[in-house]
Amino acid sequence: MPQEPKPTTSHRVTASDDLEVSAYLEIAKQKAGQESQAQATSSVSRETILIIDFGSQYSRLIARRVRESKVYCEIIAHDSPWEDVAKLNPKGVILSGGPASVYETDAPLAPSWVFDANLPVLGICYGMQALVHQLGGKVEAGKKREFGHAVLHQNASSDPLFHGLDQALPVWMSHGDRIVQPPPGFYALAYTDNSPIAAIGNGQGMLGIQFHPEVVHTAQGKAIIDNFLFRVCGCSRTWTPTNFVTETVREIQDQVGKGNVICALSGGVDSAVAAMLVHKAVGDQLTCIFVNNGLMRREEPERVLNTFQKYLKVNLVYADAVESFMTALEGVVDPEEKRKVVGEEFIRVFDFEAGRIGKVDFLTQGTLYPDVIESQTEENKISAKIKTHHNVGGLPKNMKLKLIEPLRYLFKDEVRNVGLELGLPDEMVYRQPFPGPGLSIRILGEVTYEKLEVLRAADWVVMDEIKGNNLYRDLWQSFAVLTGTRSVGVTGDFRTYGYVIAVRAVTSDEAMTADWARLPYDTLARISNRITNEVPGVNRVVFDITSKPPGTIEWE
Ligand code: XMP
Repeated sequence: MPQEPKPTTSHRVTASDDLEVSAYLEIAKQKAGQESQAQATSSVSRETILIIDFGSQYSRLIARRVRESKVYCEIIAHDSPWEDVAKLNPKGVILSGGPASVYETDAPLAPSWVFDANLPVLGICYGMQALVHQLGGKVEAGKKREFGHAVLHQNASSDPLFHGLDQALPVWMSHGDRIVQPPPGFYALAYTDNSPIAAIGNGQGMLGIQFHPEVVHTAQGKAIIDNFLFRVCGCSRTWTPTNFVTETVREIQDQVGKGNVICALSGGVDSAVAAMLVHKAVGDQLTCIFVNNGLMRREEPERVLNTFQKYLKVNLVYADAVESFMTALEGVVDPEEKRKVVGEEFIRVFDFEAGRIGKVDFLTQGTLYPDVIESQTEENKISAKIKTHHNVGGLPKNMKLKLIEPLRYLFKDEVRNVGLELGLPDEMVYRQPFPGPGLSIRILGEVTYEKLEVLRAADWVVMDEIKGNNLYRDLWQSFAVLTGTRSVGVTGDFRTYGYVIAVRAVTSDEAMTADWARLPYDTLARISNRITNEVPGVNRVVFDITSKPPGTIEWE
């Protein structure tokens, strides 16, 4: 039976609290030393490649490739005004692919500044067709759709875009329309069997390619993107974690001044990195709040406390709200209802703790670039399929705090690199995603103390085996689920009627889609054996072999 609800208790943890000291501390100190040296010598000048989004499923991939080459880029809407983009110090423009046809009414086109700003331009697929159409060339519906692998042959006229590449290249195509006549001043650079004009250029930095260099199937696609960035646009490789930290710390200092900042820590990498950046910028003006909702994995609250105390040395409010969450969850079975209850309870506790801190001016959030792109895309209604974003119910809207979102333009892997740069332990930097509502949505049916204990013990075994077999970093997520089913089993001479635990392990690219991981049979066997032996009440273990779609990653 759940115990009587108690009021939330919290205490301020200071750096001098006597918690166990780990070797991380030493590494963090060394990192900090290297970092300040690097900062002293780095000159920060952020150049931007603008990616105009025509709605391709690959736009985000283009951005990732550019960033991987240490060049900053932003995905912008196709009708973005020049005044907005000029301040980003643009060095070149990439026009993305997209599902439309340029001759359809209302087909999205590039804004006129793209052709007037004297910037290098690379049109990819639909982007190339838009460029051709807008500059007076001719695009037509092809007789045959070209989809999949093709071989690109370069014409004799070489261009810096293809510098150092083979004359014949395997490329990835996905288009119906094709170019039949380049615009005046442009000439064909390459062809495939189905596209006589598969790449064009004007010799002055305006380029178009029919294939997708951003996908892995275009084997030398990265070299083509690099040629555009460095040989055509003249970019330098300044988008590095060191420069990002230097710049962001300065920006936060300017924004915050003498104000006070709060930040909710979830135990995940995003809030950890966001908090660490703010702390580096304004030190004790930051107070972090960590709400223990009782729905975390085994030893997680302790680990979060330890890490933050040692690394960040932040003012940390630890709110032990386990009982109030459990009381609120009593009798709740429906997964959406659970999310709502956990979200509301979080806001209540966070609000209460924030109120006790005194005057607060800013709230730090670990919003990432994919979330920003998703909301932009939703506004622009360009992309067809979007993942619903379901965060911890959001933070109090009535707080009237100004937002600090230092990770707003970063992809997850970049956040991890910044985390490493800031000296966060690998364990935290590479932590697999964990849902805001925690274990409550990994227990099917009502959440009770007893079920939480069963799930924690089973999850511990899964983690132990996955980590012990060096599989952790290859997986997007791996965890145990307490299914709502019981089944008959036999232990010794006795019939049992126990819980069924499901093991879920998936590979994924940012959770949009996922595939079940082909875990080695031996690992699965050990997980099953250990769970049924070590976790009282469980007599059966199953492995989930559903991909997303049609399944989701969590069971709920
Ligand atoms: P699904 O289950 O929809 O989950 O395939 C996609 C990814 O999102 C994570 N997830 C959440 N993350 N707050 C979060 O921050 C949440 O409420 C939440 N729910 C699911 C899930 O673990 C997976 O990585």
